[in-house]
Amino acid sequence: MGEGAKTSSEGKTALRSRAWFDNPENPDMTALYLERYLNYGFSIDELQSGRPIIGIAQTGSDLTPCNRHHLELAKRVRDGIRDAGGIAIEFPTHPIQETGKRPTAGLDRNLQYLSLVEAIHGYPLDGVVLTIGCDKTTPACLMAAATVNIPAIALSVGPMLNGWFKGERTGSGTIVWKAREMMAAGEIDYKGFLELVASSAPSTGWCNTMGTATTMNSLTEALGMSLPGSAAIPAPYRDRQECAYRTGVQIVEMVHADRKPSDILTRTAFLNAIRVNSAIGGSTNAPIHLNAIARHIGVELTLEDWETQGADVPLIVNLQPAGSYLAEDFYRAGGVPAVMGQLVRAGLIDGDALTANGQTIAANIGDADTQDTDVIRTLDAPLKPAAGLTVLRGNLFDNAVMKLSVISPEFRARYLSNAADPDAFEGTAIVFDGPEDYHSRIDDPALGADANSILIMRGAGPIGYPGGAEVVNMRPPAALIQAGLHALPCIGDGRQSGTSGSPSILNAAPEAVVGGGLALVRTGDRIRIDLGKRTADMLVDAAELDRRRAELKGNPDYMPPPQTPWQEIHRALTGQFDGGAVLEMAVKYQRVAQTRGLPRDSH
Ligand code: FES
Ligand code: MG
Repeated sequence: MGEGAKTSSEGKTALRSRAWFDNPENPDMTALYLERYLNYGFSIDELQSGRPIIGIAQTGSDLTPCNRHHLELAKRVRDGIRDAGGIAIEFPTHPIQETGKRPTAGLDRNLQYLSLVEAIHGYPLDGVVLTIGCDKTTPACLMAAATVNIPAIALSVGPMLNGWFKGERTGSGTIVWKAREMMAAGEIDYKGFLELVASSAPSTGWCNTMGTATTMNSLTEALGMSLPGSAAIPAPYRDRQECAYRTGVQIVEMVHADRKPSDILTRTAFLNAIRVNSAIGGSTNAPIHLNAIARHIGVELTLEDWETQGADVPLIVNLQPAGSYLAEDFYRAGGVPAVMGQLVRAGLIDGDALTANGQTIAANIGDADTQDTDVIRTLDAPLKPAAGLTVLRGNLFDNAVMKLSVISPEFRARYLSNAADPDAFEGTAIVFDGPEDYHSRIDDPALGADANSILIMRGAGPIGYPGGAEVVNMRPPAALIQAGLHALPCIGDGRQSGTSGSPSILNAAPEAVVGGGLALVRTGDRIRIDLGKRTADMLVDAAELDRRRAELKGNPDYMPPPQTPWQEIHRALTGQFDGGAVLEMAVKYQRVAQTRGLPRDSH
């Protein structure tokens, strides 16, 4: 036990909030801390009663509509905390909304992380409820809880209700990628485009597809950091309110038990989460975020783990974009416990992993199973038999990921049907220096794109487009779509929305702006992708590549200068996607509450 955790005379770990509110050795400071929280309406007796002080890290706001329902849910969290004998203190976090934040929400993940570490560490909190939801809010909160390592539990805000248009399910994000093809094909106009997309967002909550939000909230439950069965409850359902109450009750118990993130976020828990990610058809953002959380808690986790642990797990959750259904269906069919129950019984995950409520995964799950075998399939009748991510390597990058579960029959027939070489294909590169370049040229006949083209996006990585832009899933030129070609192979150093069904090769590291292989590729180069050998190369000889490398000087044109101070700081300190794109200098701050002591007094 480090100097940060003092032990009381009864041998119990003393609450850290006592150092603020009840320290007879320093009456001046105790008075100073107390009086301003009394201002809020607390009494001295209350704050000195020995009750745990529980922070509610509020990620919901008008700027973050996906998480806005947390403003309501927090009331029930407070009820739970109070009923269990704690005192709730709610505080705001830096806002992150995935689609509204320019240039990227990824940029703000590390900022919310950083500010949350400071808040949790620097204020009189004994435990914290993390209100998670929209894509990057979940990893940011878990990363911060990992760094500080005081008792913490996550509460998901829940997905939106299903979207519908003319009797068909319309899923958030996924419908955008479809609608832009329909507009390019002349099937709908601008107004029709907007109406179709709006139909996918019928209520409060996060994206109702298996995008990054449903993925990360499901994986939070799989990791054991939220209550069992909690991830899939739709935001507007009454069950969500009840879940908020139970989460409030649970965190008080966790403080008394001193059950910390480091007790839950073990390597076993992460490997379980990787396997669950395959079974649910999770987002390609998951490796970035899980690797980031693992690094902050000090657990060894690499892209190789994603390859070796997740690849042979079947896809059983039939949600868009890999499948047909949406979030309400997922909840009705049993949610995460129905998936994990099957995986535990098949020996595909370790049921002994500890969770936030002090029980193991296996004990929490019991005999949970699918309630609708079309929405959550059984392992012997999956959507895809092996659904993990493949990691590709070669002279284009050291590593990049590809989501196997979204390779369509059409794509497979076009690119992966050569009898002599069924896992490989070649094409000719068309290189775009950022999304603006892509948008301005994609429909230009001079581009010369055809069915053998491979679209390459560079300048979209964590440093280049700070935070990493979700721009790698590029639609083909309108003329090709009108001729019936709906997807071209795409490669890039950016991300792709988890709601996209494109089998892109993305998250390439190192990115072009730091000298990765993508900096050398040129339009017209022959590209070879071999999914069997897991390689991706430009077929350009080494001498020519050396010559091109020698020509690289300074920042490329496709890395515009920072527009804000944080963009500059982020660029200087952030690593690549395979390492979680974390602030590299932050990784050495491990289990701060135990290893670095309490913060010094403020006056
Ligand atoms: Fe916030 Fe999808 S944009 S959850
Ligand atoms: Mg996104």
